[in-house]
Amino acid sequence: MTPGLIACKAPRPPEGSVREAATLFAAVCARCHGPTGHADVPESRAVGAKDLTREEVRRMSDAALAHQIRVGGGRMPGFGDVLGDREIAALVGYLRTLIPAFQGSKDTRRFSGK
Ligand code: HEC
Repeated sequence: MTPGLIACKAPRPPEGSVREAATLFAAVCARCHGPTGHADVPESRAVGAKDLTREEVRRMSDAALAHQIRVGGGRMPGFGDVLGDREIAALVGYLRTLIPAFQGSKDTRRFSGK
């Protein structure tokens, strides 16, 4: 496992954090990436936000995902000012649940706030 920026604090967020992250994702990320991360809302096209369930995202390390959230990248702004390390770690864990290869679709639905 690659030692990442967050590895020492929360290598594997407990389920509680993932649930909390679902709320954060809906509040902060869904605007651009859509409620399920598929980048299927009008704003997604407007800003060029990407589908977070793609293979490319699956292959990103936890540290790279945390960096993208904290600092931003490309046309995505960083959220390091508004999100703490623990929240960012929880969001990384949550992103994994959006990707079918990691979790069954049942879990994706469970975490999507329905
Ligand atoms: C203002 C719109 C906006 C918001 C809000 C936003 N993003 Fe993004 N996101 C983008 C854009 C645009 C990109 C593509 C960046 C680029 O040009 O490579 C992106 C890319 C990403 C990527 C990299 C995907 C890839 O394939 O390289 C991840 C991961 C990501 N966002 C996660 C998040 C998370 C988690 C949140 C909530 C904390 C969030 N984003 C909030 C616009 C946004």
